[in-house]
Amino acid sequence: MSISKPLRRKTPLQVPAPKPTSSPQSTSPFVRKCLHIIGGIEPHAARAVDAPSGYGRHASLLAEHGYDVIAMDTDEWALRYIREVRLSENDKIACVVADCSADIPLAPDTIFIAVVVHFISPALLQVLSRVIRTGGYLIYETYGGNGDNYVMLPRPGEIAAELHARFELIYYKEKEVGPKKEAATVKCLAKRVAVPLPNLYTACR
Ligand SMILES: C[S@@+](CC[C@H](N)C(=O)[O-])C[C@H]1O[C@@H](n2cnc3c(N)ncnc32)[C@H](O)[C@@H]1O
Repeated sequence: MSISKPLRRKTPLQVPAPKPTSSPQSTSPFVRKCLHIIGGIEPHAARAVDAPSGYGRHASLLAEHGYDVIAMDTDEWALRYIREVRLSENDKIACVVADCSADIPLAPDTIFIAVVVHFISPALLQVLSRVIRTGGYLIYETYGGNGDNYVMLPRPGEIAAELHARFELIYYKEKEVGPKKEAATVKCLAKRVAVPLPNLYTACR
């Protein structure tokens, strides 16, 4: 399928955050793998954002890795859980109520790592391409393609096309899903580059 068609701009449908249980919520193995690849914190590069954070499982993971974390979500109850439960474990998470499908309140070039897990919004990727500083990283993982989930997932190639101008794709894996393989699950680790790149992804397909 060509990815030169205009990107779909539907109102994103989202799935709810998993409710926290008394046992620690498991974090995404892919996010953990990416944090391992990125390695230790650089000086002056310690700010990370989890958008949206849900109940903060990845915000906590980022804080455990030493980052100062901003957890964003529209769900005030989930952010309250982070403040009241997770902050007792770790005080390096700031909670912000924000619509992550709009212009999130972060200054350009200030974030070293942005984690986006189980949230589909092309608008958020556009905003993060400005907010993540040069040399910083985006860790992006869609939900799986089970059942009718495919209707909410991006088209094959869509996320790579969204990112190509501002990011080097360190790791990019898609799995086509849906009755006609019209959608894709995506796992991606991307590094923000200073100079816009030519769209090699499109040229190679
Ligand atoms: C499936 S959860 C994923 C949460 C988290 N990334 C995780 O992996 O646990 C989706 C989250 O998106 C939040 N959400 C949905 N629409 C949103 C929006 N427009 N802006 C910010 N958060 C939103 C929901 O409140 C929910 O916490």
